[in-house]
Amino acid sequence: MLLLLTLLFKELLFHGASTVGEKNQDLQVLRPHHLTTEEPLTFHLIQISSFANHSWAHTQGSGWLGELQTHRWNGVLGTIQFLWPWSRGNFSKEELKNLQALLQLYLHAFPRVVQAFASQFQFEYPFEIQISFGCRMHAGKASGSFLNGAYQGSDFLSFQGNSWKPSSGAGSQAQNVCNVLNHYRVIKEIVQILLSDTCPRFLSDLLEAGKAELERQEKPEAWVSKGHSPEPGRLLLVCHVSGFHPKPVWVMWMRGEQEQRSTQQGDIMPNADGTWYLRVTLDVAAGEVAGLACRVKHSSLEGHDIIIHLDGYSILLILICLTVIVTWVMLVMVGSWFKKRRSQHPRLQEFRKSPLLGKEIMAQKHILEEMENKPKPTLMTFVLPCT
Ligand SMILES: *[C@@H]1O[C@H](CO)[C@@H](O)[C@H](O)[C@H]1NC(C)=O
Ligand SMILES: *[C@@H]1O[C@H](CO)[C@@H](O)[C@H](O)[C@H]1NC(C)=O
Repeated sequence: MLLLLTLLFKELLFHGASTVGEKNQDLQVLRPHHLTTEEPLTFHLIQISSFANHSWAHTQGSGWLGELQTHRWNGVLGTIQFLWPWSRGNFSKEELKNLQALLQLYLHAFPRVVQAFASQFQFEYPFEIQISFGCRMHAGKASGSFLNGAYQGSDFLSFQGNSWKPSSGAGSQAQNVCNVLNHYRVIKEIVQILLSDTCPRFLSDLLEAGKAELERQEKPEAWVSKGHSPEPGRLLLVCHVSGFHPKPVWVMWMRGEQEQRSTQQGDIMPNADGTWYLRVTLDVAAGEVAGLACRVKHSSLEGHDIIIHLDGYSILLILICLTVIVTWVMLVMVGSWFKKRRSQHPRLQEFRKSPLLGKEIMAQKHILEEMENKPKPTLMTFVLPCT
């Protein structure tokens, strides 16, 4: 029980592991007027602990300012890694050292305590526990904090007001865990301090210090392609938007000014350089492709939306197809002309052997074959079958 207390103490110290509720940002993304709305900003810590059996566990910890990772827990050295020059906020060395010591203690004790209680809590190996802890700010003011725990990927419990509450749907198992946790008043008090004081102070510092990074504007690139046909006679049009920052973006398939309601938006995925990528698709009848365009709104574009028309690319494609066909016809003609000449003038046999000409033709043939086999997405081509 003492260990559990330590564990909880640690958890609290781990001042910041919480995400949740970020899904609705993705939904808002489809509305252009949200581009300018101030989103509440969060700082949260995420802990992911995997338990393979009663003697093996692994824990990862990270800190996030909104969508941007700012901290990583080095489990080998037991230290906080600051991923940006400004990741310390303006917390003093002393305070950061204390927080690091608390995290060390907590992350050391957590797996032991969980394993000790696994059978009482009916945790079945292998299992995974995720904890998110953090706070949010809106329009410069602290606007709430959270500590949520998940078991096997599902909401399990949270800290509400001054006690642990099971998540709805987590059943008697979570109730049982909360009953045990709620006995530890000191731990609850520590959690409250971390949630209501430490986290908001740190968030406000980070927001100030990391302002330039958060406000970085990167313009998206967009291109369109054809996905796998969902069924005969239909086309899946794909609009790719990549390299933008910040995350809110609006992408829609349009016919003129008409938004295509059946536009499907994927998840916004991170690129390695901290920018974002989004894929937006439209399933249309093959005959209804003309006039469609993909439209992108993003804060970095300052109102100059990117519009990619399918028509333009269809014409480009037709031109490419024509070029290929004409070149082929010419090649065939040249080929048969050579054959004829060869049979008429045996001396040309020598000429034919000239490595230069043979190579050139082969190279050209190669290029043509490549063009046929894989149209280059760099051209942002909308690829229709060349028939
Ligand atoms: C526990 O799990 C780890 C990792 O999967 C494995 O290497 C180890 O052999 C397991 N130990 C026992 C006692 O099952
Ligand atoms: C550190 O943060 C506090 C509270 O937000 C603020 O009052 C103080 O001016 C900051 N100090 C520096 C050096 O930025």
